[in-house]
Amino acid sequence: MKVLGDQIMNMGRQILAKCRFWFVVSTAFLLWYLILCFYNSEFTPSKRPISSLGNDFGNSANIQQPNFVLLRGNSNKRINQLLPEETGDINNNNTNKRESPRNILHFEDQILVSDQKLKPNIEDSCLGRYVYIHDLPTKFNDDLLKNCRSLSDWTDMCEFTSNSGFGIPLSNAERAYSNKGWYATNQFSLEVVFHNRMKRYGCLTNDSSSASAVFVPYYAGLDIARYLWGGHNTSVRDSDSVELVKWLREKPEWKRMFGRDHFAVAGRITWDFRRLSDDQFDWGNKFLLLPESKNMSVLTIESSPWHNNDIGIPYPTYFHPLRDEEVFQWQGRMRREKRRFLFSFAGAARPNIRDSIRNEIIDQCRASKGKCKLLECSSGSSKCYKPDFVMKMFQSSVFCLQPPGDSSTRRSAFDSILAGCIPVFFHPGSAYLQYLWHLPRDFTKYSVFIHAFDVKNRTVSIEKTLGGIPRQKVAAMRGEVIRLIPKVIYASSKLETLDDAFDISIKGVLERVSKIKKKMEEGKDSSFDYPEELSWKYNFFGTVGEHEWDRFFLRM
Ligand SMILES: *[C@@H]1O[C@H](CO)[C@@H](O)[C@H](O)[C@H]1NC(C)=O
Ligand SMILES: *[C@@H]1O[C@H](CO)[C@@H](O)[C@H](O)[C@H]1NC(C)=O
Ligand SMILES: *[C@@H]1O[C@H](CO)[C@@H](O)[C@H](O)[C@H]1NC(C)=O
Ligand SMILES: *[C@@H]1O[C@H](CO)[C@@H](O)[C@H](O)[C@H]1NC(C)=O
Ligand SMILES: *[C@@H]1O[C@H](CO)[C@@H](O)[C@H](O)[C@H]1NC(C)=O
Repeated sequence: MKVLGDQIMNMGRQILAKCRFWFVVSTAFLLWYLILCFYNSEFTPSKRPISSLGNDFGNSANIQQPNFVLLRGNSNKRINQLLPEETGDINNNNTNKRESPRNILHFEDQILVSDQKLKPNIEDSCLGRYVYIHDLPTKFNDDLLKNCRSLSDWTDMCEFTSNSGFGIPLSNAERAYSNKGWYATNQFSLEVVFHNRMKRYGCLTNDSSSASAVFVPYYAGLDIARYLWGGHNTSVRDSDSVELVKWLREKPEWKRMFGRDHFAVAGRITWDFRRLSDDQFDWGNKFLLLPESKNMSVLTIESSPWHNNDIGIPYPTYFHPLRDEEVFQWQGRMRREKRRFLFSFAGAARPNIRDSIRNEIIDQCRASKGKCKLLECSSGSSKCYKPDFVMKMFQSSVFCLQPPGDSSTRRSAFDSILAGCIPVFFHPGSAYLQYLWHLPRDFTKYSVFIHAFDVKNRTVSIEKTLGGIPRQKVAAMRGEVIRLIPKVIYASSKLETLDDAFDISIKGVLERVSKIKKKMEEGKDSSFDYPEELSWKYNFFGTVGEHEWDRFFLRM
């Protein structure tokens, strides 16, 4: 009896233990299930708040195939016609394209399905981004290309104006480049490069009244380059730009905002268009000084720190890829590159410029034997003009010195970024105050700043300064430089997901024009709340108080 009783007791205990086990398991399961349900109801795409749309088109992984079909039925013809740059099949599975109006539509279709309250006009993804291109007389652009032999007395510009301004393709004999997308691009060809991209911009309109900005495809730099040398009098130098603004002013598009919504590209430095006086011996023309030009936004490779009608955008480099993948491959290669030299410098002394620090730079480079690679561009040395030689040198250097030359900016700064070489600047006007749309405000993330004054009075050792930067910091800076590559190149057409220098410039122009418009609507005549002379400071710091950089911008 006792045995039986014990057995029953044991069985009971076992059953109890088993029950407890199953109880725990099923409770856990239930909990897990509840969590899942909760999670789903919080985050299903259909309940995503519309405000979270933001710029987040890149993460549109939730979009499912049926919407493509839906889109086809509803597709807005106008937008589809506006997409000559897009070659992708509408049925492809790549939903990661940013900036593509089609994909924005996909996203919005998704929302329209779940929230019928949205206004139908949200479908026009070009809204606020339409650009109208003025159809200028050909003397202001195409004729200059046709007569390319007359553009320069000593350089054959015809080579450079070929291939949409990219120049002739570079041979990769030295393996200094990747296989596709490299051209012998002249530093002054931006007007042609930009115009060609503009022609294929996704949101062009022929209806100027619906345009947010008006593009003026005048090749200002090619025009003035013909007359900068050779003793041409000022009326010859000014004649085309004066004629251009007269043409513009008489158009109905001008009257709408007095030209404040017009923009142009001038592919030479600002000083070529800002003659100091009407003295025959003063340099350049007066394109940027004309009252009409003062109302426009002119994008230049070097802008004036004291004026507000020009904005700096990157010089063209040699790389003009067609696809994201070509950029990613190049970035990967620059990350892996072995860099034998601590720093390098390619350039010539400037014996005629009193404040030039080029001599000091060259002396310091020579003195730090082996750590600095010097490529002296004195006359007769042709290596300087060979892109593969310069690019190879930058690729094997950790830092690339970018002292001012004839003016404060250099195309070389962009070649160095392209080569993953951390630029070293000596003047804030060389990049920081110039390319506000393209480079990070926090310049310490991607560059080193050494005061030109310290170099001039020889109180700083470049080698010690650069050599003293911790290894980790150097690696982080190089990472940032390499991440900047897509932003400073002009791709040969719109890239799939990356924004290039062209895309960023257009965004900048549209934002600027919309700010100006708002001010004009508020009845303010001037868009700027500070003396124009202090533009450099206001644009960078947002204030105009005293600053240690003031000494770099004293006007003679
Ligand atoms: C899209 O993906 C599906 C399944 O992953 C595949 O069967 C189909 O071929 C793909 N379509 C295209 C256009 O790549
Ligand atoms: C504008 O008009 C021109 C000439 O009629 C035409 O070739 C072009 O495709 C039109 N562009 C747009 C965006 O409609
Ligand atoms: C400027 O030069 C052009 C061509 O050489 C000449 O026709 C013109 O008279 C000159 N103008 C002045 C004001 O000297
Ligand atoms: C420039 O714009 C202002 C308004 O901001 C206008 O008063 C002025 O007439 C314009 N200049 C020209 C040449 O159109
Ligand atoms: C050199 O220049 C720096 C920075 O401008 C200045 O602080 C320093 O006093 C100068 N030194 C000499 C010896 O002139």
